Amino acid sequence: MTRRLHVTRRELVASATVAGALAAVPPAWGRRLLSRTPRVGPGTFDFGVASGEPTPNAVTFWSKLETHRPRSGARLVVARDEGMRRVVATTIVPTGSGVNGALKARVGGLKPGTEYFYVWESGSGVSPIGRTRTAPEPRAAEPLRVAFSSCQHWPSGFYGAHRHAAALADLDLYLFLGDYVYERAGADVRRDLIDAVDLRSYRQKYGLYRSDPALQELHRLHPTAHVWDDHEVVNNYTDNNPPPAAAQRVAAYRAAFEWLPRMTFPRERHRIYKRMSFGALADVFLLDERQYRTGRNDGLPATMLGGGQLEWLLSELRSSRATWKIIANQVVMAASQEGEERSSGDSWDGYPAERSRLLSTIERAGVDNVVVLTGDAHVFMASLLANDFAGVAADPNRKPAAVEYVGGSVTSRGPDFPEAEIRARAPWVQQYEGGRNGYAQFDLRPDQLDMVYLDVRVFSDDPAAAVFERFVQPAGTNRPQRTSGPAARRRV
Ligand SMILES: [Fe+2]
Repeated sequence: MTRRLHVTRRELVASATVAGALAAVPPAWGRRLLSRTPRVGPGTFDFGVASGEPTPNAVTFWSKLETHRPRSGARLVVARDEGMRRVVATTIVPTGSGVNGALKARVGGLKPGTEYFYVWESGSGVSPIGRTRTAPEPRAAEPLRVAFSSCQHWPSGFYGAHRHAAALADLDLYLFLGDYVYERAGADVRRDLIDAVDLRSYRQKYGLYRSDPALQELHRLHPTAHVWDDHEVVNNYTDNNPPPAAAQRVAAYRAAFEWLPRMTFPRERHRIYKRMSFGALADVFLLDERQYRTGRNDGLPATMLGGGQLEWLLSELRSSRATWKIIANQVVMAASQEGEERSSGDSWDGYPAERSRLLSTIERAGVDNVVVLTGDAHVFMASLLANDFAGVAADPNRKPAAVEYVGGSVTSRGPDFPEAEIRARAPWVQQYEGGRNGYAQFDLRPDQLDMVYLDVRVFSDDPAAAVFERFVQPAGTNRPQRTSGPAARRRV
């Protein structure tokens, strides 16, 4: 591989002048780390590579340089081919101990809807070669394939779900909907000895999780976007009494930014909510339901998104021209199916006024084809969302506001109730499965969304996966048609 890169470097000299429009921007910390030109230093790339935040012309590239030098750098090379011969961009990216060796660069000037390959090079080694894909051009209506999951509790098992998703040849985006790490130590199928409470231990925690070869392979082969939930800091942390100190939250957010292919907003260092556009077909809205949340213990009015984010979301939904509006959301939006006595104040049930504002705005403004993707619950579920569900149920001509798909958990165990019991309590629930782990995939076309839920075993890093639920949602209906029967009950 090293020899191949030497060839690449010579070719690079020629291609760099041709590719004058290309721009590579290191993150803000790059400017802080080094006042002079960054230089490539020795080191290894033990945690692989990653890419994210695809737009039609740009992608964010990530790796991590293991080095004893307090300030160093590595070279990023981006090419059109896996052999790294048709190089389109190169840049030297600074890093150092202040950012835990993280390497991040946003490379612009790329072509829409195009596959790219990339590699990081230090003075003494090269990373694995990664693959990524830019978003389609703004008017494109070509089909999209997206996968999503959440809750990869290390002690509960292996990441066969990621091994399976990594092998998909044609994924445009992988969305991770929270609980990427769990802050507490634990031992079950695997052992995690780290109780994360400060910057050092949050960094160690991500280091453990990212040592997993299946997770590394997922990041190597697909662009990802991540929204955090509570366990990236502390379980249900807004409602803890006392809540975690501000310094602990900042340490956890900082570690998350260091380990993921995500750039910082210039004046909002830890903002993660944003829109990602995929041609004319889909706008994806990444939400943050933790950072701006106020809890019941702090005496403030309870809010999930916070005023700024809620107004942003409503305005984005109203103005979106995309056929599908995909909300990448952490916690269950449908009303609790477990009865009031077991209702979770940590999910949207604890914030009914804000949920009502969101759903009624969608209904009143006639925002079509809103789809909510959800993590957190450790179950697979599909639900109709409506501000007034009784009214929708009584009138077949009334459309629900949106459809929610809860895409299971990678390893964390869920509440395994019989589906019939859940649906008897909560008629808006269309499907429920609490006894399996895995992930979800969907294909988007202008006229239809096709969703599948996949069952993947957690007791080995085995890529075998089985589709156990299938939904077809015609555009304009806000109703999923379940094309699979009630799943055969099976524990993995
Ligand atoms: Fe979880």
